[in-house]
Amino acid sequence: MKQGVFITFEGNDGAGKTTVCKAVEKRLSEMGYSVLYTREPGGSRIAEAIRQVLLDVENTEMDARTEALLYAASRRQHLVEVVLPALNANKIVLCDRFIDSSLAYQGYARQIGAPEIWDINQFAIDGHMPDKTLFLSVSVETGKKRMDLRGDKNRLDLEASAFHARVRKGYQTLCQDYPERITVIDAEADVQTVVDQSLQEILKVVHAYE
Ligand SMILES: Nc1ncnc2c1ncn2[C@@H]1O[C@H](COP(=O)(O)OP(=O)(O)OP(=O)(O)O)[C@@H](O)[C@H]1O
Ligand SMILES: [Mg+2]
Repeated sequence: MKQGVFITFEGNDGAGKTTVCKAVEKRLSEMGYSVLYTREPGGSRIAEAIRQVLLDVENTEMDARTEALLYAASRRQHLVEVVLPALNANKIVLCDRFIDSSLAYQGYARQIGAPEIWDINQFAIDGHMPDKTLFLSVSVETGKKRMDLRGDKNRLDLEASAFHARVRKGYQTLCQDYPERITVIDAEADVQTVVDQSLQEILKVVHAYE
């Protein structure tokens, strides 16, 4: 196998990324693979500190481009400290959200522009694109229902709904633009089916490198 396999999971809020990612991690581990599940900031002290600035509700004057740069900076630090060492140790890395989240949320939904977000993220990741990205596709309504189920605050107002619709549309554009890298998984199905399909797609990539 080449140096590790880098898999990212993407999708709207409540699509099932974390649930599926963790189940896939378990299945791959049981099959004897060395796997790492991670998500930004992933326990990196510096990436965590950057995230605190992003999440601080006091930072109301945060400019949209500053926000985009901080996300990219946090991504860089997590990549260098967590993802790359695991890939160098020949692990399968399952990353819960990565560059496509910035493209969908900030590039498309916040309307900064996908090319702008792409450029700063390419600087941040310096060529380390995922080998495969799984887009867990659900309707905005399903995502909302699942967030409610999880007990998140109900944000059913129209603005939130329009935002999530733009996120979904952004992801769909990315799927068209990168058909080789991104595989669409129908995540409206039950958890077991989504996990099985995700696992199948990941194993195709893993076997290609063996
Ligand atoms: N295929 C599925 N069918 C039914 N319920 C599901 C499915 N996948 C996940 N869920 C449930 O939906 C809720 C949201 O799932 P999860 O937290 O994995 O989503 P997520 O994509 O990680 O969301 P976020 O973007 O907010 O991190 C959880 O309660 C989970 O148990
Ligand atoms: Mg999650």
